[in-house]
Formats: sequence, C-alpha cells, structure tokens
Amino acid sequence: MLKTLNKKSDPTIFIIFGGTGDLTKRKIMPALYNLFLAGYLPVNFAIIGTSSSKMTDEKYSNELLDAVNEFSRNGKTKKEDWTKFASHIGFQDADITDPNAFKPFGKLIEKYKKEWKETPSIIYYCAVAPHFFCTIAENITKAKLENDLDTTRIIIEKPFGTDLGSAQELNKKLLSIFDEKQIYRIDHYLGKEVVQNIMAFRFANSIMEPLWNRNHVEHVQISVTEQIGIGSRGKYFEGAGILRDMIQNHLLQLLCIIAMEPPTNFNADEVRDRKVDVLKAMRKIETGKIESMSARGQYSSGWIEGKEVLGYREEENVDPDSNTETYAAMKLHIDNWRWQGVPFYLRTGKRLFKSASIITIQFKEIPHNIFVSEESGAPKQNRLVISIQPDMAIRFQLQSKVPGLEMNLNTVDVVFDYAGNTKSDSPEAYETLLLDAITGDQTLFMRADQVEVAWKLIMPILNYWEKNKAQNFPNYSADSWGPENAEALIAKDGYHWFNLPDKNKKE
Ligand code: BG6
Repeated sequence: MLKTLNKKSDPTIFIIFGGTGDLTKRKIMPALYNLFLAGYLPVNFAIIGTSSSKMTDEKYSNELLDAVNEFSRNGKTKKEDWTKFASHIGFQDADITDPNAFKPFGKLIEKYKKEWKETPSIIYYCAVAPHFFCTIAENITKAKLENDLDTTRIIIEKPFGTDLGSAQELNKKLLSIFDEKQIYRIDHYLGKEVVQNIMAFRFANSIMEPLWNRNHVEHVQISVTEQIGIGSRGKYFEGAGILRDMIQNHLLQLLCIIAMEPPTNFNADEVRDRKVDVLKAMRKIETGKIESMSARGQYSSGWIEGKEVLGYREEENVDPDSNTETYAAMKLHIDNWRWQGVPFYLRTGKRLFKSASIITIQFKEIPHNIFVSEESGAPKQNRLVISIQPDMAIRFQLQSKVPGLEMNLNTVDVVFDYAGNTKSDSPEAYETLLLDAITGDQTLFMRADQVEVAWKLIMPILNYWEKNKAQNFPNYSADSWGPENAEALIAKDGYHWFNLPDKNKKE
C-alpha cells in the first residue's frame, strides 16, 4: 500500500480470464491503462486477455480502446499513449473448462521469459462468474502452468462464496493449489481513496486514539446508499440479495477499519489480523432477535430524477413474487473493551434517494450544558463524518458561537476534503488494488479467515430471511430513503439515520 514510483518492478504477465467481459472493460483495463500512464507498470509487461470468442490481438485491443475511452477517469486516450500501451496487449481464446485450452498460456509465458531474459511475475485474474474460480485454478495445475510461490498470484473477484459453507469449500480448493500468500481476494471498497485514508487518519494522528472508544463515541453509522437499481443484473441479484452483495463484504470491511485496534506495523497480516479480531468480537446475532436487530426491504417503482423506474419485481430476470431484499439495515455490537455498549448501525440499499457512502461517528452529549438559549437549543453532539463517495471528505462537526451580541450556537464543519484534488486526480480503487497485486502487497485483499468469519456473522440473518418470507415486499418506493422498518430499527434507540443531501448542507 505504501509505494513509491518504481519503474523497475518485476516484469509482469497478466492473464485475464473473462478478458472480454464487463469488469475487464469497465474497471480492469482502464485501471491498467492509468497505471501505465502514471509510470507504475514495469517496463516489461504483457496483458493476455482470454475468453471463448476468437479474435486477433488487434481486434481485442481495439475493443479495449473503446472501453478505456468510455470508462477511464482520464477521459479519452491519446493516440501515441494508447499505441505504446496496446503493444503489450494480446489475446488467446480458451474454453476455460478445458485444461488443454490452457497450454497456449504456457507457451506465451515461455516466449516472454526468453524475450525479457527475466523471470516475470504471473498474475492470473479471474474476472469471471464465481462458479469458474475453481475450474480455472484446477486447469492452471492440470496444464502445468507457472505456479511459483513467490512470483505467481491469482486474483479472485467477488462474490467469494454464497454462504459460509461454499466460501469454506472455495478456500479449501484454492488453498490446495495456491498458498494463501498467492491469493488476492478483491473487495474493491478497500481500494477506495477515503477508505485508505481512515487508517492514516486514525493511526497517524495522536488526538484520535483517546476519543476512539466507548468513553466518547455514542454510536456509529455505516451507510452505503445507491440510486441505481438492479438493471441487467437480475439473474445474479436474485440469487444474492443485498446482504450477500454488500454487507458481507464492503460494509463489514468498513466497520473493521473503524473498529480495529491499532496494528503494531503496516504489514499485510498484522493489519488483517486486527480486522479479523473485530469480526471475531462481534456479538452473535441470535435468531430470536433478528426481527428487532435488522430490517429488510425491496423497492417498488418510482421516479428517480424525473425518470420513471421499475420496481424490483418488474426488472428483467426477477421473479414477480421475489423475496430477495434490495435493502438491508442492522444493528451490531462489538464485545470488547473499546466498543462495549456502542451500537454500530449498518444500512445499504438500491434505488434510494441519493448515492452516498458515509460513515458517521456520533460522539456523546456534553456532560453538562451551560448555554441556555431558546433559539439554538442544547448544543448538538459532535460528529465525525467520513464521506467516501461521491463527495470525498472527512469532516468534524463542532459547536461554535454564531457571531453577534447573543450567545447562540451553531454547528460548524472542520473539513478535510479532496476538492482541490478533482475526482480525476484520485486513483480508482482498481488502480490501487492492481498495483498492490503487482507489487505483492496483500494488505487490502481479503484473507481466507476474514471472508469466512464475515460469512459466519451474517449466516443467521441469511438463513432466517430465506426461511421467513417477507410479507410486505415491496416496502419502499424508488427515490425514498428505504423502508419504514429501517427507520424504526434505529428510532427505537433514540437515533435517526443521517442523510447528507449535499456537502454544504447540515442536518
Ligand atoms: C459491488 C456490488 O460489489 O459494489 C454492486 O456487487 C454495487 O451491487 C457496487 O453496486 C457498489 O460499488 P461502488 O464502488 O459503485 O460503490
């Protein structure tokens, strides 16, 4: 994660399974191209895309050019830059279920080794549907492709399993072929700029630590709301639901970064150990308490920014009677010294009023109020608001005197924002993660035990929701802030969800 520009990093061969897929076009290629532009790729590198289609290297690189022009944060490519980059791109068709179809990759690896006269790192990237992860790993072995402990890595996309059992199974299979230090399980939230900054903010400032505990924090909210609906992903989402899609991975990882103990160093395993400690300390969700500790929802039709949108059950490839949740909220507890008694509220959903990923840490009330003012009321509680997207900012909300002859109070924000840094200056999560995979840094990737303990935590809710169909679906309209039961979940503790409509507006 801490890296400096090093053009001398090891030569690298990327073999991208799912080379013509959506993820490759939207995320992986723009990320590799931007790393190339910024000088982070080694001098010798090769990108070999693969899929079942047949095409020439040139046709493939033209397809990627269109994708990069459309999806790169840097906008359209410059001809001479692209030409240089494209000279590193190749295509090899392969049926990924056939081990013999993997043999050409071995030949290509040999070819580059001879040409470069160096041992390259090999990165197998599984940008395919999850049921192919094991097949690819097995066929790499069957075709005797390079699998060196120090130089070969495999990147596995999410979802990693569909429940605890399948995740354990997948780990077992992968670990029978690769060592843990070769396996890079992606959770792209960990690569987001502000998410990485949380660690800097917590562990590079001495004033944070004394405040960061049950003595000062009243409660924490982790909220990832999305305006988009399911679109063309109905088939996948019907089998997933938002609990699997977002909470098991992204939201629990955010929680871990907020709640973890300070690591003793910035080593990948040390950081991941401290995160696993958090998950292990989470109070088990008892079946009898699921109704009172969680809420689920499914969106109906509505209007988003002047456009009429379908309800979830009307979306393509969705059962008209679907029980799949598109919204989930829950209250969690961490049973340790730091966080005993501090509730953590998580919520996420599709087709909500605004897209925003925000973590709010609400501090306790002042112990005694000396300011009695009818106009401003009691001082508001302090908050630390970590805005991950679309605004990228960390703001402390403090109380201050309103200028004037009377003692009236107002909330002011002490803000660190990335405004000077326009959005395009910040690397995309995939750039960070791919560079880490190239340099062999696993800090921001999920370890086997991390994934499993996260599944273990949510299994009771998953099972309960599957067995007990929601009687009131759909229960929130597109363009709302979610179902009423989610408001009730937090309201009964005397709080409400913080919805930040825009960066200048306070609640
Ligand atoms: C993905 C989920 O992991 O994350 C999607 O599968 C979700 O359903 C996406 O929309 C959100 O990511 P981001 O980076 O757009 O917040």
